[in-house]
Amino acid sequence: MSTPVKKVPIHLQSAQNRLLIKNGKVVNEDNIFDADVYIEDGIIKQLGRNLIIPGGTRTIDARGKFVMPGGIDPHTHFELELMGATSVDDFYQGTKAAVAGGTTTIIDFVIPKGEESLLEAYERYRITADEKVCCDYTLHVGVTSWNNRTREEMATLVQQHGINSFKFFMAYRDLFMLRDPELIEAFKVCKSLGAVAMIHAENGDIIYENTKKLLAAGVTGPEGHEMSRPEEVEAEAVNRACVIANQVLCPLYVVHIMSRSAADELEKARRRGSCVWGETLAAALGTDGTNYSHTCWRHAAGHILSPPLRPDPDTPISLMRKLVTDGLQVTGSDNCTFNSDQKALGKHDFSKIPNGVNGVEDRMSIVWHKGVYNGIMDPTRFVAVTSTNAAKIFNLYPRKGVIAVGSDADIVVWDPSSNRVISAETHHQACDFNIFEGMEVYGVPEYVVVGGRVCVDECDLKAVHGFGKFIECPAYPSYVYEVVEEREKRPRGVARSEAEARKYAEEEAVFD
Ligand code: URP
Ligand code: ZN
Ligand code: ZN
Ligand code: ZN
Repeated sequence: MSTPVKKVPIHLQSAQNRLLIKNGKVVNEDNIFDADVYIEDGIIKQLGRNLIIPGGTRTIDARGKFVMPGGIDPHTHFELELMGATSVDDFYQGTKAAVAGGTTTIIDFVIPKGEESLLEAYERYRITADEKVCCDYTLHVGVTSWNNRTREEMATLVQQHGINSFKFFMAYRDLFMLRDPELIEAFKVCKSLGAVAMIHAENGDIIYENTKKLLAAGVTGPEGHEMSRPEEVEAEAVNRACVIANQVLCPLYVVHIMSRSAADELEKARRRGSCVWGETLAAALGTDGTNYSHTCWRHAAGHILSPPLRPDPDTPISLMRKLVTDGLQVTGSDNCTFNSDQKALGKHDFSKIPNGVNGVEDRMSIVWHKGVYNGIMDPTRFVAVTSTNAAKIFNLYPRKGVIAVGSDADIVVWDPSSNRVISAETHHQACDFNIFEGMEVYGVPEYVVVGGRVCVDECDLKAVHGFGKFIECPAYPSYVYEVVEEREKRPRGVARSEAEARKYAEEEAVFD
């Protein structure tokens, strides 16, 4: 039996599907230009001036505003079970908050539960998310143990399910952590599948030791969290992960780089020619680790995530500068929100405080305010680090991450002269706390267009439950694998005979 189709008069149908954004300044990662953007059926159909537009098209006037690709947040954890609690932003509320802030695509992480296989976990995420998401989304898959099935399942996920990235953990010992020999294998598998390896870089064994010592010494409060995993514990792991990836020539994306010294290690690896990319977080750009010494326990615990915020107050500006100079390439949120009662699970032991903070809604504003408004970053780089680079690394480009004819109509009309004050009282997230509480930020998404639909309309949120789709990420992103190929030189010995010399010359010709 076929489902009855609700009839919409044809003139209304087409008018709803057409949108013109006029008089704005279009910003892509490589250019700013004056152009109107015409959208039909969720796709950008025309770009330029004096466009010929069908009658009845809705027009948005973007004079004095920037028209940019919607944000891509490559790092969220909606409804994640972690440390005995489930993060409170689910796929509906989380993506709704994303849209409110100008983000139109999110990438979440499949994290298997207990004995669940990677494929079972992936299916669970799809069933949960598909019907709830307000904007398009895709998934990375977390590989939290290494066994006989892992290799095969990774291949199936890449070849049949649109997954092209896997996250591995060097921390969370006895829970998610893999050891170096497993990481070597895992990175080799990623490389063989045309996938991107992702790493949570902190030395889990050191954290384990430090945690025991601190608790024994009576340091049980939230400040113990950072003390147990200081900067060098992060920096060491970033360097180790980059070396392992480089040795097996696997492209590596280092998630949530939280400290200057860790960012330095990433940058050094890039300078050596390694195929590595680095992500920092809105949290690390917008606030710092001095909050862990706050006398209010809830306030301090509310800032706990891993790796932690750093007490060095120069950290946010240093990380912002790294983004500007391409020492770092991407900004995520790592949105993983827990309410007061959940954070209280660690009231007497900092190592039991569920790890995670907000950021999916405020990420775009934080980067704009701290970067562009403060005169450190230009709008093109803003687009690169909030949208385009993630689209390129995870092979969503040019469908996402650019204003171009043929691209998805995921667009934010950004008003640089409006401001707002961030607060848990007014945010659209499910959590009762906001790490940016009270911060006044310039740069507001006045309109947010999701797949051609106006979901923020003159700052009024009209997100639609289930409107988003799962987007497949094909293997071998060219942006990443071109660099890998460039680096890939055939190992070769010394030619001691004519035959060897001929063989190497032939290989050279094929390779070129
Ligand atoms: O503290 C964090 N980052 N929570 C989410 C899990 C992770 O490691 O990304
Ligand atoms: Zn992590
Ligand atoms: Zn308080
Ligand atoms: Zn995370």
